[in-house]
Parts: sequence; C-alpha cells; structure tokens
Amino acid sequence: MSDRNSPVQSVSAATARVESPRTGMIAVVAGSSVGRKMIVAVTGIVLMAFVVGHLIGNLQIFLGPDWINGYSQHLRDLGPLLWVIRGFLLLTVILHIYFTVLLAIENRRARPTGYVKKEHVKATFASRHMVASGLVVLAFIVFHLLHFTARQFNPQFPLLKNDPLNHYDVFSMMVYGFQNVYVSAFYIVGLFLLTLHLTHGASSFLQSLGLNNKKLTPTLASAARVFAWLLFIGYAAIPVAVLLGFIQPAQHP
Ligand code: HEM
Repeated sequence: MSDRNSPVQSVSAATARVESPRTGMIAVVAGSSVGRKMIVAVTGIVLMAFVVGHLIGNLQIFLGPDWINGYSQHLRDLGPLLWVIRGFLLLTVILHIYFTVLLAIENRRARPTGYVKKEHVKATFASRHMVASGLVVLAFIVFHLLHFTARQFNPQFPLLKNDPLNHYDVFSMMVYGFQNVYVSAFYIVGLFLLTLHLTHGASSFLQSLGLNNKKLTPTLASAARVFAWLLFIGYAAIPVAVLLGFIQPAQHP
C-alpha cells in the first residue's frame, strides 16, 4: 500500500520546508518578502550603475579609436580585478533574476482567484511584463557577450590587427559588428526592452526600499523614466550612427 499521502510524511515535509537551514544576515533578509524586494532593488541599482558606466565607456566611440581602444585596454589591464568585477556582476544578475522571478511567482500564488478581476489582471500584467522583458534582456546580454567579448558571429573580427598603440581595435570591431543591419536591429530591440524594464523597475524600486513619499515618489519615478529613455538614446545612437555611415572602421582587413 502506498503511503504517499501519509499525514506524518506531509507534516514532516512541510516542517522541512519551513525550517530549511537558513543562517546569517543574507538568509534572514532573503527569507522575508520585504527583504526579497530589497535584494531586487539593491541589485537593480548596482546593475543600473553598471549600465550607466558602460554607456559612458561606449560613447567614446564618437571621440575616435584612440579613446575607446585605450579605455578598453585600461579595463583589460585591471587583470585579476576585472575577473572579480565580472564575478560580482554575474552574481548580482543571478540574484536579481532569481528574486524577481520568486517574487512574481509568490505574488501570483498569493492573489485570490475570481476576486476583484480588474485588479488581478492589472497586477499579473505588471509582473509578467517585468519577468518577460527581463528574460529577453538576459538573452540579449548572452548574445552581446558572445558577440563583443568572445568576438563571435562576424568574419572580420578575427582578422582585426591591433591599432598603432598596440591596443585591440575595439573601435573597428564595434563598427563592423553594427554594419550588419540584423545585428543592429537586435541590439535596438534588446535596448528597447531593457528601457521598458528600467522604466518599470526604476519607478518601483523606491517603494521596495520603503521610500514612499506622496510628493517625492511620483517625481522620482518620472525622473527614473527620463533616465531610462536617455540611456536608450545614448546606447541606440551607436548602432544608428554606424548604420548611417557616420562612423567608419579604422582598418580594412
Ligand atoms: C549599443 C549598445 C552596446 C555596445 C556598443 C556595447 C559594447 C560592448 C563592448 C565593445 C564590449 C567588450 C569590451 C571589451 O572587450 O573591451 C562589451 C562588453 C559588455 N557589455 Fe556591452 N555594449 C552595449 C550594450 C550593453 C548593455 C545594454 C549591457 C547590459 C545590460 C551590456 C553589458 C555588457 C557586459 C556585461 C559586458 C562584458 C564586460 C566584460 O568584459 O567584463 N552592454 N560591450
């Protein structure tokens, strides 16, 4: 006879779930809904800071090859520290995604079915939108890393020689990369979804951090939306400028 539904077993399973071995500060924070929201907010802020820094670095393409190639070389010169930063960023992305998805699942489970239908639809749409746009942004980042960090998908990349200062020619790599209209289109779609994600995320993280001021919150939320769209304009300007022929490669291998 099967004892699958034995009360003893289900009680011990439930206890195991409740008393899972969570220790330390992080576990305490991660164990509460408020704490999980704070983790999403704080990791979101770290990622936003990265996106701003990365844009400032990338915009140097408009200043010429020496600038962007030199900047990229400086990053590589960080050596082991660069790997620490990469590891930290990866951990931040993983935590951000894990807790966002967890909160979305919990929200959906906690919502009573067949009750105040309008609110139900509104809330699920918001959370579904964040998870979906976040996952597409993730796919974009994976493609982007293969494209520009692993230097894949373009026959010109392996042929590029170092620039006169003996730095890798990131400038020409980016130009050749974006001269492919499909690649540029994919970047622009990815950046657009990142912007949508940021406009939602940036306007809700203040609440997650408990900063709920009737006057200040809407102002900061609008500022966050402007910020997200400025990021979009800044990033999208690069593939658009290449496609329009404003930036030409520094070498023709
Ligand atoms: C037009 C838009 C973008 C351009 C032109 C661009 C350009 C680049 C380039 C050239 C690299 C390689 C740097 C090197 O090897 O020296 C790189 C790396 C990277 N990019 Fe972007 N990027 C763009 C958008 C983004 C966005 C929106 C994100 C994140 C949401 C992002 C995240 C990263 C990451 C995580 C790396 C790896 C950094 C590392 O090597 O440690 N990029 N990007």
